[in-house]
Amino acid sequence: MSQAGQWTATVMARRDTGDYAVVTLSAGTDTSTARPGQFVSVKVAGPDSALLLRRAMWIGEATASGREGGTIEVVADLREPGGAWLAAQPQSARVDVIGPLGRPFSLPRDPTTCLLIGFETATAALVKLAEDLVSRGCRVRFLLLGQNVAYGALTARRFSSEIMDSSGRITSPRDATLSQLDDSVEVVYSAGTTEQLQPVGQILMGKGVAHQAAVETPLVCGSRTCTLCALPVRGRDGVTRMVRACTEGPVFQGDFVRWDDLGTVPGDCLGASEEIR
Ligand code: FES
Repeated sequence: MSQAGQWTATVMARRDTGDYAVVTLSAGTDTSTARPGQFVSVKVAGPDSALLLRRAMWIGEATASGREGGTIEVVADLREPGGAWLAAQPQSARVDVIGPLGRPFSLPRDPTTCLLIGFETATAALVKLAEDLVSRGCRVRFLLLGQNVAYGALTARRFSSEIMDSSGRITSPRDATLSQLDDSVEVVYSAGTTEQLQPVGQILMGKGVAHQAAVETPLVCGSRTCTLCALPVRGRDGVTRMVRACTEGPVFQGDFVRWDDLGTVPGDCLGASEEIR
């Protein structure tokens, strides 16, 4: 895993896509350690604010270095007070950021066909991944699910002409996933909340397709303390343990996540930390 650091980042730009704002931050340092599927923890609001908790945000596009260090894009949810606060910051405002955090996606050794399934703002986790896959000679197909897919559609178009966009109509994630699975797809990468990914994970179970899932959970502390991000994952020894998405994830091998049991296993089963992957 790449080394996380604390940055005093500078707000460079903001552009809105539907309910979200894409905020570009200059980290003031080299961000080349950031990998697809990782996230940052952003301190939102000032010392007098009632917003006490940091916010976890996916890293979208990233440039490694420049005159003022590397830049990253994060996607802020305008419907949520922390996201709205970040989006409202003027150009040149300073923001406290910790990152990159979490386990990233793994890339296939050989060129292959990959299906990238992104839900709403979590599609940001797939953007840099698509770029890296294409640069390795992989064929990339996007499936964008949810009502707010504008950001994903915009960026996906740069890396693939194969984009299925579900905006504006109700599409069952299960049916949509099945419709995109053909014999050419060898790897599926997905990103979304546990509720969004559950039908995708269930349908891919036992299909013989490698599946890596970037799971968005409530990341309250982001540092192994609160356990609110825990989810049931089967280890290589066959034993299920509750593991923390903030440190053991957010990317998991889909076949090891107990999709059927999400939300049913009590958090006090939190086992000793184990290398799941
Ligand atoms: S967010 Fe608190 S332990 Fe993971």
